[in-house]
Amino acid sequence: MSTALITGASSGIGATFAQVLAQRGTNVVLVARSEEKLQQLAQSLREQYAIRADVIVQDLLKPEAATTVYSAVQALGLSIDLLINNAGFGDYGKFSTRDRQKQLDMVQLNIAALVDLTHQFLPAMLERRSGSILNIASIAGFQPMPYFSVYAATKAFVLSFSEALWAESQDQGVCVLAVCPGPTESQFFEVADFPTALASEGQGIVPAETVVKEALQALERQQSNVVTGGLSNQFVVNAARFLPRSTLVKGIAKVFGPKA
Ligand SMILES: NC(=O)c1ccc[n+]([C@@H]2O[C@H](COP(=O)([O-])OP(=O)(O)OC[C@H]3O[C@@H](n4cnc5c(N)ncnc54)[C@H](OP(=O)(O)O)[C@@H]3O)[C@@H](O)[C@H]2O)c1
Repeated sequence: MSTALITGASSGIGATFAQVLAQRGTNVVLVARSEEKLQQLAQSLREQYAIRADVIVQDLLKPEAATTVYSAVQALGLSIDLLINNAGFGDYGKFSTRDRQKQLDMVQLNIAALVDLTHQFLPAMLERRSGSILNIASIAGFQPMPYFSVYAATKAFVLSFSEALWAESQDQGVCVLAVCPGPTESQFFEVADFPTALASEGQGIVPAETVVKEALQALERQQSNVVTGGLSNQFVVNAARFLPRSTLVKGIAKVFGPKA
């Protein structure tokens, strides 16, 4: 039986990964800050699917959080076959007016914690010549996004980092996949203060199940990245290839900027 460790497993896309993987007979290790939600999910997965479900309550913003998670996994006597770096958040608005600490925390969680967890778990996978890492990026990572500037930049990092590791690890039996969802049902927009109407403008917000199923299919095909959701998401990520960058970024500023 294989084991997946999922960060940000207490809600949204992370909780859905846990549900779908457990249904497929995978043991899960659930990581986030909300202990009660994690324990409830773990209990329900154990009862429904007769799998092992462990909980590690961890704020990934804490110093040495990845080392703490790695040690907790060792203490549980587990070996991780699939690491899903999913925990993350955004923050909508003009950069200069937004809370400074929230911007720094976003970089810490979306980038530094993901890099550190990858660095903790990847070597054993390479040694075993098996295992997968799935990093949740975003369609926001394909172009700069005024009024969502730090978030889009963190996801550009995740996309670039993951694709580079995919090429480094591919011939050693380990797959690293960048998952790039578009607007997806979760608490994301609320946490980001993002106007939901804006998020779904011209396109549907898809259920988290769509992201999870398409990501797992892409992993089976050993892809380096996958843009989940409908055709409109493909349009967004490909726009950057055809338009001059300044035209693109000005256009995005018009769409995402405050309306007069
Ligand atoms: N929803 C979308 O439209 C969308 C689109 C593209 C990409 N994404 C990406 O998808 C990923 C999952 O987001 P979601 O949409 O499922 O949003 P969500 O429902 O808000 O879930 C975020 C998860 O991250 C966890 N988290 C937040 N801060 C944390 C911290 N300091 N330490 C540990 N865990 C923390 C939260 O758990 P606790 O609060 O319990 O810690 C929660 O489980 C994120 O990386 C997001 O950027 C989302």
